[in-house]
Amino acid sequence: MQKKEKIYEGKAKIIYSTDDPDHLILYYKDDATAFDNTKKGTIVDKGIMNNAISSKIFQLLSQNRIPNHFVEKLSDREMGVKKLQMLPVEVLVRNVVAGSLAKRYGMEEGTPLKRTILEFCYKDDSLHDPQCNEDHLLVFGWCTDQELINIKNYSLRVNDFLVGFFDSLGIRLIDFKLEFGRFKGDLLLADEITPDGCRLWDKKTGEKLDKDRFRRDLGGVEEAYKIVYEKVLNS
Ligand SMILES: Nc1ncnc2c1ncn2[C@@H]1O[C@H](COP(=O)(O)OP(=O)(O)O)[C@@H](O)[C@H]1O
Ligand SMILES: [Mg+2]
Repeated sequence: MQKKEKIYEGKAKIIYSTDDPDHLILYYKDDATAFDNTKKGTIVDKGIMNNAISSKIFQLLSQNRIPNHFVEKLSDREMGVKKLQMLPVEVLVRNVVAGSLAKRYGMEEGTPLKRTILEFCYKDDSLHDPQCNEDHLLVFGWCTDQELINIKNYSLRVNDFLVGFFDSLGIRLIDFKLEFGRFKGDLLLADEITPDGCRLWDKKTGEKLDKDRFRRDLGGVEEAYKIVYEKVLNS
């Protein structure tokens, strides 16, 4: 896969085209943002750790027959992926009350949910990624009926796999964000699965091992990412 020109720079990654029109390269940066881009910073070596974590998880998901965009890890910070037509949708998969769910409904963070909750957001920074429901997704044409069925099915299967995977590493998977896209008529899981978009708590101590350390100025951000990185890579 030969890198060509930069086609997009996002908050956490840069996208490059390649010599193959069906492939892209995702370059993972150290930049960190939170609260709608109002908080900005750097997490040293985050790009390297997130690329490694994400690559490993996508490989495991492929082995578990969850269709996804991953092709190969190309370098420390670069991942080769299939070029998708992204759906403008973020899927939030929640096992335990945290973050915006706690705030919105006045619930205590850490309360286990009796079953997994899926939430949807319309991915548009200028609108601040507003929350939406299944009707919005369908009526506004952000996905088809069949895609919605697949999105929900894949999200729950990813959750089942990841809950067990992180549990085996001594980590509780509280919640996480997924993105999907279309590739030659198929719906594929895309983007990244990293501590940027997952809430991961140490099973024994409850210590946060994810981007909440950056959001909430808890300190030890790099150390937390490194713990997840080492556990995932040594699994
Ligand atoms: N396989 C893919 N094909 C096309 N676009 C993708 C793919 N995987 C992820 N993306 C998109 O690439 C961008 C990744 O960069 P990121 O820094 O996360 O951007 P953003 O700030 O928009 O979230 C996202 O907009 C994401 O939707
Ligand atoms: Mg992103």
